Amino acid sequence: MVHNIKNIVIAGAGVMGSSMAQLFAAGGYQVTLYDISDAALYNSQRLIHVNQNVMHNDKTEGEKEENIRENITFSSEKECFSDADFVIEAIVEKMEVKHGFWNEVSGLAPDKAVLTSNTSGLSLTEIAKAVKYPERFCGMHWLNPPHICPLVEIIKGEKTAPETMGVVYDLACDIHRYPVCLQKEVPGFLVNRFQFAILREAMSLVEAGVACKEDIDKVFKYGLGLRYACLGPFEIADLGGLDTFYNIADYLFADISNEKNVHKMLGQLYRDGDYGVKTGKGFYDYGNGRAEEVIAKRDKDFMKVVKCLYEE
Ligand SMILES: NC(=O)c1ccc[n+]([C@@H]2O[C@H](COP(=O)([O-])OP(=O)(O)OC[C@H]3O[C@@H](n4cnc5c(N)ncnc54)[C@H](O)[C@@H]3O)[C@@H](O)[C@H]2O)c1
Repeated sequence: MVHNIKNIVIAGAGVMGSSMAQLFAAGGYQVTLYDISDAALYNSQRLIHVNQNVMHNDKTEGEKEENIRENITFSSEKECFSDADFVIEAIVEKMEVKHGFWNEVSGLAPDKAVLTSNTSGLSLTEIAKAVKYPERFCGMHWLNPPHICPLVEIIKGEKTAPETMGVVYDLACDIHRYPVCLQKEVPGFLVNRFQFAILREAMSLVEAGVACKEDIDKVFKYGLGLRYACLGPFEIADLGGLDTFYNIADYLFADISNEKNVHKMLGQLYRDGDYGVKTGKGFYDYGNGRAEEVIAKRDKDFMKVVKCLYEE
């Protein structure tokens, strides 16, 4: 246990909150999953069970699941915040909802509690306006699914104290995550800036008729993905040779997409309500029960990579 943190309250028992809960519970923390919706709390138990099944399927691992579930309490009562040492907010991504939540909850949590938000990109400084002690508040941005993806972005708001960043960092390390710190807020933090730079280029190439989306996905699965699972862009450049990288950058940067508007292909899918796996159709088709299959395959594949690369 680090910094005497024992009780962790996670608000929002959705996709992210449920997955984080099982991770902290597996690390020996007492976790309360709080949600305003009883249906969400019920569904969260099912989600945790499904996640655990994908991760572990032998008997000993079944016992581990029991221990994990013993460490998680499900609650729709706000009193659960009164003995929290650490709070993670993973509720809907709307500023007014987050403000309403923090207005109330930061007054209920003990003064010494560290408070964090898993916002995907809303301003932490803006969210902090509703937090009683903004110096004890910062961003803690996880990648989906948190119980498998080891990266955590820790983002400093204008008023966040350095000690708060330190506590969040140590806690993430304690559950075997790899935290990175942003000392200044930028839209999209680090991960989404890279992710969306790639998506922008990918959609530009498809719309220009250079390659189909299937082939672009292959470029990542069988080429760049392998590289980026092991190395970062600066390491790759050093290995490639900076003279070569300079010469390529000199002619290529001017040609890479700097599109400022959302591409037509994404706009059309959005207007049609084709949101991807969750609606059964997006860039690809996930009808006939393929959605669950695709999620299970993703988690299994991620697990294999995590096991190979990060587990001793
Ligand atoms: N899904 C992702 O890939 C992902 C990745 C990184 C960060 N995030 C961020 O994490 C947060 C949660 O995302 P998600 O995908 O888990 O959402 P979700 O829709 O699966 O879950 C959100 C939950 O919050 C609950 N909720 C809403 N208002 C509440 C309130 N006032 N108090 C308590 N509970 C409340 C809802 O009932 C719901 O169960 C968002 O800020 C999102 O941007 C999501």
